[in-house]
Amino acid sequence: MTSERECFVYIVPPGETRFVTAGRFRLTEGGKGPVGAFVYGRSYRERANAVELDPIELRLSSRAYETARMNGFFGAIRDAMPDFWGRRVIERHAGFAKLAEFDYLLQGPDDRAGALGFGLKVEPPAPRRRFNRTMDLERLQKAADAVVADEPDLAGSAGNQVEDLLLLGTSMGGARPKTVVQDDHALWIVKFGRKDDRWNDPRVEHGLLKLARTCGLNVADSRIETVADRDVLLVRRFDRDWAETGYRRHRMVSALTLLRTGDAPGERGNWSYLLLADEIRRASADPEDDLRELFGRMCFNAAVSNLDDHPRNHALLAKDRDWRLSQAFDLTPSPVVARERRDLAMACGRFGRYANKTNLLSDHGRFLLSDAEAASIFDRITTTVRNEWRPTLRRAGVSETDCEAIKSAFVYDGLFYENVV
Ligand SMILES: Nc1ncnc2c1ncn2[C@@H]1O[C@H](COP(=O)(O)OP(=O)(O)OP(=O)(O)O)[C@@H](O)[C@H]1O
Ligand SMILES: [Mg+2]
Repeated sequence: MTSERECFVYIVPPGETRFVTAGRFRLTEGGKGPVGAFVYGRSYRERANAVELDPIELRLSSRAYETARMNGFFGAIRDAMPDFWGRRVIERHAGFAKLAEFDYLLQGPDDRAGALGFGLKVEPPAPRRRFNRTMDLERLQKAADAVVADEPDLAGSAGNQVEDLLLLGTSMGGARPKTVVQDDHALWIVKFGRKDDRWNDPRVEHGLLKLARTCGLNVADSRIETVADRDVLLVRRFDRDWAETGYRRHRMVSALTLLRTGDAPGERGNWSYLLLADEIRRASADPEDDLRELFGRMCFNAAVSNLDDHPRNHALLAKDRDWRLSQAFDLTPSPVVARERRDLAMACGRFGRYANKTNLLSDHGRFLLSDAEAASIFDRITTTVRNEWRPTLRRAGVSETDCEAIKSAFVYDGLFYENVV
């Protein structure tokens, strides 16, 4: 049996704050598996400020695009869908039902990363204007705790429960408990700690973002709020800018989309900084600058054992027509026991994923860097991490006990081993 679902795809064009209708997305499920189709509307293509949805797949044209990959979801559309955490909240709201992919697309709240929106009407809705505030954080933290614990009742009564889930719901990706708040004319991703965290996760992530900045990297702004004795991390959204008439929305695509791949174990062979560098060379308006930055982030991830640096944790952003590497986000140390070999989530040199100097420097040309430039970036970053990690994290409010718990993450021995095979 063949089934067909269809929706309109909206976009906030550069410089504007309201959606316009960009095109139509259709998903057909037949004998051969799901097939997605997308076509730009003619009136959209004729707009002076029409822009493409992404820099590699859905170029602005009159073509009817089709894909049988990724369950029929084009990368740019997949990037705008809720991920593990957002889905968990939607499923709770729907009475623990497992929904079809298309439902997650349509039921995700309008706070999704990037400039896209989705709906069944040809006329786009007015963008969401009201967001949670920092003063709602205590209630949101309670609701997040209940979702993590899978508690049947959030706040005593069924009415509150539904309302809290609605407040908590987000289309932002990622696995950790989170929501979005508005504060000081900006939108912030709120990342909650979990009661089973081994250390104060929000503070440690805040400290690592600061450390990356100390290393000269371009990093999302962050701060800590303390709510009912617990810390939560606020990361300023770089894909929204406040304007008198609403929020400007900047297009955003993940490295997963740039690499034309997915999360499944069989696709992880495509996860690679080198291949990502090749894509950025083509898509970015300033490849030299972006590739130097990407190379620095790769060295930083190796130096702090951020081994969860998967392709959804890298993105390109377009504030106007031009695509550039986004600010860095989601930096967390994994203090594993191994002293000899640690692997990043993506290949980082000719010898695979090994977080090791020789490997990291082995294909510097892909980042448009000379041997000497690459070595100097690596040396600068590892020296800064070695000297600065503890004072920087302490200044960010990480306790001495937590610093001890994570210290093995920083500049581990295998980073300098000469034998890479
Ligand atoms: N500052 C930001 N501005 C805009 N979008 C962001 C920002 N930080 C993160 N995002 C988007 O939100 C998603 C989730 O954020 P993040 O990676 O920090 O969450 P997480 O739950 O820790 O993820 P993971 O599952 O990788 O551990 C990212 O994949 C990215 O698409
Ligand atoms: Mg992430």
